[in-house]
Amino acid sequence: MKPDYKNWVPGGMRKSLIAVSIVLLILLVIFLIAAPLPSLATNIVVDVILLIAFVVCAWFAHWCVIATRAFDWNAADSLARRIIEGIAFYVNVPDGGTCLDVGCGSGALTIAVAKRNPHARVMGVDRWGKEYASFNKEVCEKNAQAEGVTNVTFQQGDATKLPFADETFDAVTSNYVYHNVAGANKQELLLETLRTLKKGGTFAIHDLMTQHHYGDMKSFVKKLRDMGYQEVRLIPTGSDFIMSDREEKKYMLSGSTLLVGKK
Ligand SMILES: C[S@@+](CC[C@H](N)C(=O)[O-])C[C@H]1O[C@@H](n2cnc3c(N)ncnc32)[C@H](O)[C@@H]1O
Repeated sequence: MKPDYKNWVPGGMRKSLIAVSIVLLILLVIFLIAAPLPSLATNIVVDVILLIAFVVCAWFAHWCVIATRAFDWNAADSLARRIIEGIAFYVNVPDGGTCLDVGCGSGALTIAVAKRNPHARVMGVDRWGKEYASFNKEVCEKNAQAEGVTNVTFQQGDATKLPFADETFDAVTSNYVYHNVAGANKQELLLETLRTLKKGGTFAIHDLMTQHHYGDMKSFVKKLRDMGYQEVRLIPTGSDFIMSDREEKKYMLSGSTLLVGKK
C-alpha cells in the first residue's frame, strides 16, 4: 500500500474553476454568434464581461492544474515533499518526548517528523473542515500505516484554541496552516501553539509569513526573545533554500518562512 497525501490545492476548487471556465466559454460563444440581446451595444457589453470572466477563471483553473502537479507528493522532485522534509529536518524531539503538528492535513509532516524521531511520539491535530475536504483523520491513519509508522496519533483540534494544557509537548511544528485561518490574528495563533510547548522545547513553524498575513514578524521575534525564548530565527525558505524564488512566486508561496527557536 502506498501513502496518499492528497494535494494542497483542493480538488473541488480545481474542478469548479474548470467547470465555470467551460460554462463561461460556451456562453461567450453563444453571445458572439447569436447576439441574443435586443441592442448591439448591450451584446458587446455582455461579450466583454463574459470574456474577462472567462480569462480570469481559465487563468486560475490553469494555475490550479500546474500547482496540483507541483504539489503532487509522488512527482519527481515534488515541491510538497521537499518542503515537508525541509521542515522535518528542523524538528528534533528528545527520545521518549512528544511533538505536536498543528493543522496536519493528510499527515505528511506528522509522519515525516515521526520517521526522523522514531523514539518520540508525534500527534497531528486538524480542524478537517470543508475547504480541504480530502484531508481527514482516516486518511492520516492510513498514510501512517502505509509508511509503517506507529509512533503517531491524530485527533480533531482547532489551532485557535488547542485542546491541550500549557507546556504539554517537547516540540511543536506546523506547515502552511495559520494563513488559512480567516479573521484570526496570526501572531496570536503562533502564541497559542507555543503555549502548549514545554519550557526548553523547540519549535519549527512554516507559513506564508508576509506582512499582510502576519504583520511585523521581526518585532514578534523580539517579543519572543524578551519573553525568554532562545535562538529564535526567521528562515526564508525560498531563494533556493527549500524552493527557488521562481517556484515561490509561481505557486503563490511568497513569504514562505520558518520560525524556529527554543522556549
Ligand atoms: C495547506 S493545508 C496543510 C496541511 C499540512 N500541514 C501539510 O503540510 O500537508 C492547511 C491545513 O490547515 C488546516 N486548518 C485550517 N484552519 C485550521 C484551524 N483553525 N485549526 C486546525 N487546522 C486548520 C486545514 O484543515 C488543512 O488541513
